[in-house]
Amino acid sequence: MKMKTIERETSQDSFSLHQGGEGLRAFNKMIDGVSRKLQDLYEGTGKPYIGKMPGVIKEDIQPIMAITPEGKSFAEVLDEIDEPILKNSLHISHHKSMAHLHCPPLLPGVAAELIIATLNQSMDSWDQSTAATYVEAEMVKWLTEKISLPASSGGVFTSGGTQSNYMGLLLARDAFCHSKWNHNVQRDGLPEGFNRLRILCSEEAHFTVKKAAYQLGLGEQAVVTVKTDENHRMSVGELNETLQMLHHENLLPFALVATCGTTDFGSIDPSEELAEIARQQGLWFHIDAAYGGGLMLSHSYADKLKGLENADSITVDFHKLFYQPISCGAFLVKDEVNFRYLSYHADYLNPVKDDEEGILNLVNKSVQTTRRFDALKLYLSLKTVGTDLFGSMIDETVKLAGYTASYMGELEDIVIQNPEPEINTVIFRYQPKRMEGNDLDLNHLNRMIQQTLLYKGKGVIAKTVIKGQTFLKLTLLNPRTKPEDIHSLLHEIEEIGTEIVNGGVIH
Ligand SMILES: Cc1ncc(COP(=O)(O)O)c(C=O)c1O
Repeated sequence: MKMKTIERETSQDSFSLHQGGEGLRAFNKMIDGVSRKLQDLYEGTGKPYIGKMPGVIKEDIQPIMAITPEGKSFAEVLDEIDEPILKNSLHISHHKSMAHLHCPPLLPGVAAELIIATLNQSMDSWDQSTAATYVEAEMVKWLTEKISLPASSGGVFTSGGTQSNYMGLLLARDAFCHSKWNHNVQRDGLPEGFNRLRILCSEEAHFTVKKAAYQLGLGEQAVVTVKTDENHRMSVGELNETLQMLHHENLLPFALVATCGTTDFGSIDPSEELAEIARQQGLWFHIDAAYGGGLMLSHSYADKLKGLENADSITVDFHKLFYQPISCGAFLVKDEVNFRYLSYHADYLNPVKDDEEGILNLVNKSVQTTRRFDALKLYLSLKTVGTDLFGSMIDETVKLAGYTASYMGELEDIVIQNPEPEINTVIFRYQPKRMEGNDLDLNHLNRMIQQTLLYKGKGVIAKTVIKGQTFLKLTLLNPRTKPEDIHSLLHEIEEIGTEIVNGGVIH
């Protein structure tokens, strides 16, 4: 049998987008090949996940990992990665992929990635991102106006919530050290007495608040968590008591972090009341709206964001409820002047002279130097989808979460934790009624259900632990997920649960 030979690109020109024709032809061919490969993948993908165990995937990857002195044709490499990488991946756009705050990307955002990579602008200095700098600045303006932040406000795109939360706390720490001790942390490091500094957040705030605290040299001990109420929101009474206690102990609270959309329950801390307390106590008020921020586009639920405008700084993620490919987030600040705590002038990149001449170098607002033109994804998606459809898509998912919770309420063996979901997560556990009184390990049972669903490729759902107990979680970000998907998923959960219990695997 005659082997098909695949033509291989060999000249340097065929790997670069130069002004000649060869690179452009190669570019076209590659994009075409990728597009066809992905089309085949999605045509043939009926499941959110192929169902393989981690060890099997690790083995599948090994044969293709050899890097050789001689290259291969792009088409050949695409074929090689088809099974081990493409088919073995989690298919996040599948309507039964509903585990984490990990969204199906919108196609304009996906297409934007190609432009972003091809143009390869770097957002640090204007001379590396001549148009992109202004697109990002305009998108930030759009956001600050949408949130009704004052004219003094500003912001920057980030890699996501982790970085934005870090930036909020960095500015908060340095602004406090400056105003309290006239101390310049940037120049002199942490001041004496820094170990008395405290950050307040709810016990359900994202772990990156603690992570930021230790990265900022304050240690996790600097984070004081405040108890939440029955709706998983920070309790104002508890906050007041905690503040009193901190003052009594001669500690120095300097920042209050509210969460607008906690990772598990999507709960929204009472930001108007918290803002008032922060104002009275002289605390920097940061709102982590990584998840909930998406509601700003909603037609029915945008008022859940009331009070966002009172924050000193805000985290918003676009790779969650704004349906952008990873990574894409923003950090906003009420008073742009505060960016001085992280700006650094390098002669080769962003000299002071540039500022004097009005040249906008966004590195002055970022903890990154080289940075992606992620703003283009959000821009192209909003322009193409339009805010009407965007808002309806988000509303669909919140409504589906409400429907799911009430449907679960009718099922004998499912116990729902949040009968009225705040956004679009639903937390529950399988708890067979007929086994009541038996010594059944429900934590292990629910963990096994989640894993069995995954390894059967029937559904990708999450597990989480609440007050020491394992629960299952649906994060319903996908507007294409329908009630029928929920019915069949829950049916599957009940079947798997019954099988495990009957099989005697769980005692
Ligand atoms: C409330 C909240 N804040 C921050 C983050 C961290 O965001 P990222 O993963 O984009 O860094 C998450 C992640 O899920 C989150 O849920």
